[in-house]
Amino acid sequence: MARARLNSGNAQAEELPKVKINKESIRKVSELLKYLKPYRGKFIVGMIFLFLSSLTGLAFPSLLGIMIDAAQGKQKYDFLPLNINMIGYISFGILFIQAFISFFRIRLFVEVAEKSLADIRRDTYFKLITLPMNFFSQRRVGELNSRISADLSQIQDTLTTTIAEMIRQIVILVGGVTLLFYVSHKLTLLNLGVLPLLVVVAVVFGKFIRKLSRQAQDKLADSNTVVEETLQGISNVKAFVNEAYEAGRYDKSLREVVKIALRGANYRGAFASFIIFAIFGAIVGVIWYGSILVSYGELSVGSLTTYILYSIFVGAAMGSFPELYANVQKALGASERVLEILQETNEDISININDNSIVQKIDGNLEFENVQFSYPSRKEITVLNGVSFKASAGEKVAIVGPSGAGKSTIAGLILRFYETQSGKILFDGNPSGHYSLTDIRNQVAIVPQDVLLFGGTIRENIAYGKLSASADEVIAASKRANAHEFISGFPEGYDTLVGERGIKLSGGQRQRIAIARALLKDPAILILDEATSSLDSESERLVQEALEELMKDRTSIIIAHRLSTIREADKIVVLEKGIVIESGTHHQLMENQEGLYRYLSQLQYEV
Ligand SMILES: Nc1ncnc2c1ncn2[C@@H]1O[C@H](COP(=O)(O)OP(=O)(O)O)[C@@H](O)[C@H]1O
Ligand SMILES: [Mg+2]
Repeated sequence: MARARLNSGNAQAEELPKVKINKESIRKVSELLKYLKPYRGKFIVGMIFLFLSSLTGLAFPSLLGIMIDAAQGKQKYDFLPLNINMIGYISFGILFIQAFISFFRIRLFVEVAEKSLADIRRDTYFKLITLPMNFFSQRRVGELNSRISADLSQIQDTLTTTIAEMIRQIVILVGGVTLLFYVSHKLTLLNLGVLPLLVVVAVVFGKFIRKLSRQAQDKLADSNTVVEETLQGISNVKAFVNEAYEAGRYDKSLREVVKIALRGANYRGAFASFIIFAIFGAIVGVIWYGSILVSYGELSVGSLTTYILYSIFVGAAMGSFPELYANVQKALGASERVLEILQETNEDISININDNSIVQKIDGNLEFENVQFSYPSRKEITVLNGVSFKASAGEKVAIVGPSGAGKSTIAGLILRFYETQSGKILFDGNPSGHYSLTDIRNQVAIVPQDVLLFGGTIRENIAYGKLSASADEVIAASKRANAHEFISGFPEGYDTLVGERGIKLSGGQRQRIAIARALLKDPAILILDEATSSLDSESERLVQEALEELMKDRTSIIIAHRLSTIREADKIVVLEKGIVIESGTHHQLMENQEGLYRYLSQLQYEV
C-alpha cells in the first residue's frame, strides 16, 4: 500500500500543478526566501556575475560585424581604428572573461541552492515528523513524500537554473532590442511589425497543445494505475487466472493514450511547421530587405551580419520565456505546498536527541474517567463514549471486545496521539495534560500486532527503544525477550540487516525484537495491542514467555481478542462500540450468565 502511494507521488512529480503568479503567491514564496539569507553574499555575487556574463555575450555580434567591415577596408568608428587582428584579440579576451565568470556564477548558484535547499528539506522533514497524528490521518504518505522530493526539487531547479536563465534572457532581450534599433531601425520596425501575429498564434496554439498533453498524461497515469494494482495484487491475479483480463484492461487504456496523443500530434505538427516557416521567413525577409539597404549603401555588410545575429539572440530569448515562466509557476505551487507544512503547528514536544531524561516520573497508575472521543477526521462518529477504567501501578488490565470497539483507540489516547473531547485520562491521579508529551511517551511503550522494523541492523532496531543503550544492554534485553537465540543464529548476528533491503523476519521474531525494544525502554506503562494475535502457536509460546518477562513490575494494558491469553489479568474490561459494558476478573465475568465476556469465551472454547 505504502509503495503504491509512493509511486503515485512520483507520478505527480512529472507534472506538478502550476499556480497563477500574483502578489499573494509571491508574498508566500518570499517567506521561503529567508532560507537564502545565510548565503546572500554568494547569491548576490552570483547575480552580478550572471549579469556581467549576459552582457558580455551581447558584445560578439557587434565585434563580428566590425571585423567583417574591417575585412572590406571599412572602419565602423573613425575614432576607433581597429584592424582585424586587434578585433580578434579583443573577442578572445572577452570570451576568456566570460568563461571565467560563467564558471563562478554556476558554482555559486549551485552552492547557494544546494545549501539552502538542504536547510529547507531538513526543516520540512523535522516539521513533518513532529506534527500531530491527526495531520497524517488526513494525508497520504505519497503526497507528503512528494513534497519533500518532487516539490523541493522543483524549487531547487528554479533556484539554480530557471532564475538565472530568466535574468540572462531578459538582459539579452532588452539589450538585444536596443542594439537592433541602434544597428538599423528600419529593419527593426519591419521585424516588430510581424511579431504580434506570431505571439498571438503561439499563445493560442500553445494553450491547446498543453491541454491535450495534460489529457494524455492523465490517461497515462490511469494506465499506470492498472499496472500498479495488478503487480501489487499479482497473487490474486494469478489465483483467479485473470492475466488476460488485466492485459485487456491495460491494452484498452493504452489505446486511449495513443488516441489523445495523436490528436495532440496534429496540433503540434501544425504548430511546428508554422513556427519553422515564421522563423525562416523572418530570416529571409531580414536578409532580403537588408540586402536592399546594403545595395543602397544605407547599411554595411558587417552591420547586416550584426543585425542578423542580434535578431537570432532576441528570437531565442523570446522563445525560451514560456517554458521558464511555466517553471516559475510550478516552483510557486511547490513552495506553497511546502510552506503549508512549514506553517502547521507541531506537537508540543521538546525533542532533544541526546537527552531523553524524564522530568516528571509516572509510577504507573492509569485511569480513564468518562472519556469521550471521536477522531478529528471523522468527528461525527463517537468512537469512545464515556469510557472509565482504572489500572493501579503494576496491575495487568485486559481490554477485550469485538473489532472496531475502540481498543486501539484507547492505546492511542494513552500515548496522547489525540486529545479527548471530554473526560480525563489520569496518570498517578494527575490529568495527562499535567505531563509533557515527551514524558508520557518516554514512559509508555506499545507492542503492536504488526511490528514495523526500520531498514538497518537488528541491533539498531532494538536500540530504538533506548538510543544510548550499550551492546551488552541490547544483548541482555534480547535474551530476556527470547530473541537472542535466533539472532545469534544469523551469520551476521546482531549486525544482520532487516527491513526492506534486509532479511525478512517472521511475525514472531519481529514481535520479540519489539519486546526487546520495549524492555530497553523500561516503561512504567506497557500496552500490548493484540501482540500475539497473528502468531502461530509455537511462536506464540515464545512471544508469550517474552511478554510475561516484559510485563513484570509494570502496569500492563493487554488488548486481546483471544481470551485465553488474559485469564490471569487482574481486571478485564469488556468494551463494545465504545462503551464499557462489563469489567471484573475472569471469574467474576464468567458468573454473569448474560454477559458478553462469558458468551465470547464460550464461543472461543467451542472452537
Ligand atoms: N485514525 C482514525 N481515524 C478515524 N477513525 C478511526 C481511526 N482509527 C480507528 N478509527 C475508527 O475508530 C473505531 C475504533 O477503532 P479501533 O480503536 O481501531 O478498534 P479496535 O482496536 O477495537 O478494533 C473504528 O470504527 C475505526 O473505524
Ligand atoms: Mg485494534
